[in-house]
Amino acid sequence: MRTDLPQAIYRKDYTAPSFLVDTVDIGFDLDPITTRVATRLTMTRNPDSVNQNIVLNGEALELVQLRMNGKLLTKRGYTLQGGILQIPDAPDQVVLEIETLTHPEKNTSLMGLYVSNGNFFTQCEAEGFRKITFFPDRPDVMAKYTVMLRADKKKYPVLLSNGNLVEQGDLGDGRHYAKWEDPFKKPSYLFALVAAKLVCQEETYQLKSGRKVLLQVWVEKGNLDKTQHAMESLKHSIRWDEERFGLELDLDRFMIVAVGDFNMGAMENKGLNIFNTKFVLANPRIATDVDYANIESVVGHEYFHNWTGNRVTCRDWFQLSLKEGLTVFRDQEFSADMVGTASGRAVKRIEDVRLLRQVQFAEDAGPMAHPVRPDSYVEINNFYTVTIYEKGAEVVRMVQTLVGRDGFRKGMDLYFARHDGQAVECDDFRAAMADANRRNLKQFERWYSQAGTPQVKAETSYDPLAKTFEITLSQTCAATPGQAKKLPFHIPVAVGLLDAEGKDLVLHCDDGASAGVAGTLVLELTKAKQTFRFTQVNEQPVPSLLRDFSAPVVLEYDYSDAELALLLAHDSDPFNRWEASQRLAMRRLVKLTDAARNNEQLTLDPMFIDALRGVLMDDTLDPAFRELVLTLPSEAMVAEQFSVVDSQAIHAARQFMRGMVAQGLRTELLNAYETNLTPDAYSPDAEASGKRGLKNLALSYLLEWADESTCQLALAQFDTAHNMTDRQAALSALLNAESKAATKAASKSLKRFYKDFKNEPLVIDKWFMLQGMAHATDVAAMRALMTHPAFTLKNPNRARSLIFSFCNANPARFHAADGSGYAFWAEQVIALNAINPQVAARLVRSLDRWRKYAPKAQELMLLALQKVANSKKLSKDVQEVVSKSLA
Ligand code: PHE
Ligand code: ZN
Repeated sequence: MRTDLPQAIYRKDYTAPSFLVDTVDIGFDLDPITTRVATRLTMTRNPDSVNQNIVLNGEALELVQLRMNGKLLTKRGYTLQGGILQIPDAPDQVVLEIETLTHPEKNTSLMGLYVSNGNFFTQCEAEGFRKITFFPDRPDVMAKYTVMLRADKKKYPVLLSNGNLVEQGDLGDGRHYAKWEDPFKKPSYLFALVAAKLVCQEETYQLKSGRKVLLQVWVEKGNLDKTQHAMESLKHSIRWDEERFGLELDLDRFMIVAVGDFNMGAMENKGLNIFNTKFVLANPRIATDVDYANIESVVGHEYFHNWTGNRVTCRDWFQLSLKEGLTVFRDQEFSADMVGTASGRAVKRIEDVRLLRQVQFAEDAGPMAHPVRPDSYVEINNFYTVTIYEKGAEVVRMVQTLVGRDGFRKGMDLYFARHDGQAVECDDFRAAMADANRRNLKQFERWYSQAGTPQVKAETSYDPLAKTFEITLSQTCAATPGQAKKLPFHIPVAVGLLDAEGKDLVLHCDDGASAGVAGTLVLELTKAKQTFRFTQVNEQPVPSLLRDFSAPVVLEYDYSDAELALLLAHDSDPFNRWEASQRLAMRRLVKLTDAARNNEQLTLDPMFIDALRGVLMDDTLDPAFRELVLTLPSEAMVAEQFSVVDSQAIHAARQFMRGMVAQGLRTELLNAYETNLTPDAYSPDAEASGKRGLKNLALSYLLEWADESTCQLALAQFDTAHNMTDRQAALSALLNAESKAATKAASKSLKRFYKDFKNEPLVIDKWFMLQGMAHATDVAAMRALMTHPAFTLKNPNRARSLIFSFCNANPARFHAADGSGYAFWAEQVIALNAINPQVAARLVRSLDRWRKYAPKAQELMLLALQKVANSKKLSKDVQEVVSKSLA
């Protein structure tokens, strides 16, 4: 078995760049087979550097020629080894002229310059620029770029790059050119070009200052009817950043371009954001409510990067969360502010926390666990993780909780005042927040340096004579790779106390608590164990702990069912109302799983059904909120509660519970279905989407008893739906129902769905995804689906829609006892590795927690992992994840 790690890079080894780049003049003769790139760099020796040589990165490049200060450099004038070109004995001021060749059409990695559907695109974050030309490809080298694009005019009528278009014209031979200039210094990872046959929706938009800017959304011709929502989202983002943070768009022109082949969600290239089509294109026919919400948040995210990422960027890639955590926090706040409904903010918060717990907590508990600011990596692409993004956002959110909203704004202002135009570290952000608020955030640094999810245990005691209530909080954090012992974190724990009617008590506490929202205090847990005493407490209260999920921790407290029911019915904090429902469900799911594993009788108490009924019937609550309460913890979440996971037992337990809820609430669910129908004219707003959400959840419950009448209900919805949300929900409900009638209806609907949408790739992705996730889909069915003419591993969206949805979201089938899922997984990892290492490495993650399964399953998983480890030509990306999984 090969478990050796390829060369790791360490944060502590950071050294300043030997030369700084002042200007980059880069010219492209674009051709899909061979593109010639001519680069002219003006460079200056960096006095802070110890290294004397000029150091340039280059990968998969053909070097045609290299000149320094006009003189041709022969092979004796430089060294080129392992992707690093070094020039010794350079003067302090240098003009380097570099000519390279690349082969865009052959580039299936989708990094650097590549072709998608006949058009040219680039992707340079994190280290893609080095696939375009030799360059000090590191974010602390910031330069001004001038870009010349030359290409066939007919095939590529649109030529785009960062900044402003300064010149364009014909070259005479059927080719044309465009010259772009970016007025701002930027790191190479923010460079982008597009040469394509595209059209755009455009608009002149007036900023608050009165300045007018040109906004464009570029897509293929047939998609011009799907750009409106992205444009609206962009305008909302611009306005929001002005209002909430006083940050204005600094360019005269801002472009979004959609591309069908893309490794990630989208990319914040300066002035030229490149997006996965999935996060741009929408109309009611093809996009669901979730798609609409995702588009808004990703458009916001990329736009917000213009300040948090581009104007102030990262010194090195260990600081990735400096821009990503902060920008996710900003996009979360943006989305929350956009929702107009009563519990809109809470609904958004619950959705974000669900993702964090299900995916990030799992990462923190596995072999790939790493701090928000990692200490080492082998392949940076593997570190675009939920820890960097979502936990990073939680860490930023905790800062806001500690210093308050206004204090946070002051900190942001200071951060920009100090660091605009610089490449900085996570510590610089923390320092700005601390200094602007005169707060000591020294201990808070541990959130950046220590991996793992802290466990906070709460114990309480009430003294009726003294009228005091004590909350004792203790914290621990399990070992993670390379970090055996953890020091205590600085944890803000927002709490309220409820009286017997569920009303908030007025709080009095002197033990290091700061005021939060009325009825809430933020306790600052900084030691391993700490007691907080509340006074003037006239009755035994029920504590509402970790309100609004004030810290990314697992909070344990021994609630009784009755206390949880009280919180669910009355807590003024909507997050904790939801949380109470999940605690009630989870403790039952754990018991049911144990029972299923031991082949015991499964039963569910009526109290649980009654609690859900109370919420379902409460018309004062937003439908979106009721939907979240009625949604049971996912199988993946249940799996997290066990040290040894039995996917079949979990599936059986959860299905049993769904069946019991469906039976116990049949009338109420039918009623919810009928009273939440929305008008034919589609609007993605929170109120309408909340109604659809609750209605469709009701439908999926009703189909737990898939008789003729419920199947008919779903089929009718499928046939007459006016939007993709309802159509997809009906299809999904039918696919996951278990009866003859349902199977028949599902297969008929699947056929029709394909026929109706065969020209809409994003909808065909849904068609594959629904099947990959359906419980009926086993490995044999997966193999059959892969032979479908519409399937290809080359397109990341398509690969994810089928393969990833099966491996990550169909646990009972993926973990089939015979190991067929694992063998299938290994084949796909190996196939993807040869096409696109980044996507392949993501798929490896589906098995990284093999140690959590029973010995027999572990053996089979190990076989599959070893098969991958021993296969030939393994990319660094895949090698790193496989070897860390096996370590
Ligand atoms: N920086 C992008 C974002 O978070 C993500 C990304 C990373 C895209 C690497 C492409 C490649 O918005
Ligand atoms: Zn980002």
